[in-house]
Amino acid sequence: MKSFFVSFEGPDGSGKSTVIQQMVTQIAPFLKVPYLVTREPGGSKIAEQIRQLILDPANDAMSAETEALLYAAARSQHMKETVIPALLEGKIVFSDRFVDSSLAYQGVGRDLGIKQVKQINDFATKGIAPDLTIFLDVKPEIGLARIAKQRSGQEDRLEQEKLLFHQKVYAGYQTVIKQYPERIQVIDANRLLTDVVDDCVKLIIKRLPKELLKD
Ligand code: TMP
Repeated sequence: MKSFFVSFEGPDGSGKSTVIQQMVTQIAPFLKVPYLVTREPGGSKIAEQIRQLILDPANDAMSAETEALLYAAARSQHMKETVIPALLEGKIVFSDRFVDSSLAYQGVGRDLGIKQVKQINDFATKGIAPDLTIFLDVKPEIGLARIAKQRSGQEDRLEQEKLLFHQKVYAGYQTVIKQYPERIQVIDANRLLTDVVDDCVKLIIKRLPKELLKD
């Protein structure tokens, strides 16, 4: 059965969650099949518990390796319980973050290496990759400033990392984008929210197999 898997990526503060929310409201009338919105880390009961463990600011002793393995563990559970069943039912899946986050944050931000992090994720995902990935492009300085404004003092463990870490993550994303130029499409997220959402809707409709769209 035809299905379609879209992931959204971007630095912290790129506005992914809001963009996804508004994008689905706009795109829903065009779709012939049901869709599912999910997120990582999370998207299933066990994966959400792993999310809390990873993002808890009290866990500042967590090693980079543990962090990478926990993200992969959460992903494996998310795939098994949520993503794979939805794809098998012919749904369209929209995921707020997926493997590229691990490649950029753990592979480059934490210096574990993109290749090594990809290997553990291939094990976790059984090699299933999104059909389309949208990278919401904002510079880390701007993303972090947005977060500081929105929830100052309540940042999670990753958001609390220094600017240098987030700059490495951004550079990591640039490397990953070059590796998958067809799958990963970059959208300038420095603009008005409505413009960013419009571009996402247009791009997804262009890429969706015709059988999944209303006539
Ligand atoms: P979120 O704020 O987009 O929900 O993501 C939570 C944090 O986890 C964010 O700082 C990015 C980070 N992250 C990784 O470092 N590796 C991953 O594989 C994923 C999915 C998220």
